[in-house]
Amino acid sequence: MTRILGIETSCDETAVAIVRDGVSIESNVIASQTDLHARYGGVVPEQASRAHLRAIVPTLEEALERARADWDDLDAIAVTHGPGLAGALLVGVNVAKGLAFARRKPLLGINHLEGHVYANWLDGSPEPTFPLIGLIVSGGHSDLVLADAHGQYRRLGRTRDDAAGEAFDKVARMLGLGFPGGPLIEGEALSGDPDRFRFPRAWLEDGSWDFSFSGLKTAVLHQVRAFEEAGDALPVADLAASFQAAVVDVLATKATRAAVVFGASRLALAGGVAANRSLLTTVQERAQLEVLCPPPRLCTDNAAMIAAAGFFRYAAGERSDLALDVEPGLPIA
Ligand code: KG4
Ligand code: ZN
Repeated sequence: MTRILGIETSCDETAVAIVRDGVSIESNVIASQTDLHARYGGVVPEQASRAHLRAIVPTLEEALERARADWDDLDAIAVTHGPGLAGALLVGVNVAKGLAFARRKPLLGINHLEGHVYANWLDGSPEPTFPLIGLIVSGGHSDLVLADAHGQYRRLGRTRDDAAGEAFDKVARMLGLGFPGGPLIEGEALSGDPDRFRFPRAWLEDGSWDFSFSGLKTAVLHQVRAFEEAGDALPVADLAASFQAAVVDVLATKATRAAVVFGASRLALAGGVAANRSLLTTVQERAQLEVLCPPPRLCTDNAAMIAAAGFFRYAAGERSDLALDVEPGLPIA
């Protein structure tokens, strides 16, 4: 039995978890800063770093306590070292290095995006099989990847402008819904008509696996302005539903097509936007293969996913040394 302690501080959640054998959560504690950033309508990096500093020790203690674990029970420490906000990453990485040194535990630097993918096998799912297509859609990234084995990724496509989650957040702000926008748009969309507005889908040039959401965002803005100039009330639910339908259409089409083209046996959704049930059901309808998606609470940032990714690297004999540094722009491949 192998127990990994995971630490995640790349953005606005201070999170610590303990995971057994890469798939069983023993504790998963998240100190969210959502309330802190909501009043600014987005994450304020300086505030995020300070909040991580305040929260990291109590979060760590709670994770150990809830798992009823002490240091002798832990085999290694896995920490997100990128991508993310530099000042935020520094808190987690330095705490992890300090603990690894003081407690003489192996250290593993983990890519946050890889972590999102491994959230798919937490809580009982059978272990990963390859090749698999991963659609990683979060507040900072929209990556389409092909994984041939643990830790071996080829990035097929990425966003050329806004990330999918960022588009949700910006459109939510236009509609006066608040932050973070994804769940609020999804909620509004439930009672809206997705066909009322035919917003653009950016398929890009033939054969491209990249994404682009800025044209869609601008189209929503023009529509919102047209209502405002006419002095009409905003049909928020219809706008939300039509916007969501456009994002989901492009994500689902490209991901399911890539799975066929690259002969993947599974399609794994990952990242905060994967919490969107409309995305999941659309992908399931269109895919001719098994679709994996973590439960919503494991789609958004957490440390269990970092510990899970850490387990498979630990099992493969990988170790990071104490020179491990933050890499704010770290790509998945
Ligand atoms: O993965 P995550 O928690 O943090 C990053 O690594 O960025 O993703 C956060 C993003 C936010 O943009 C949020 O609006 C979006 O995920 N999100 C959603 C939903 N829940 C969270 N987007 C669409 N539908 C949702 N239900
Ligand atoms: Zn994330």
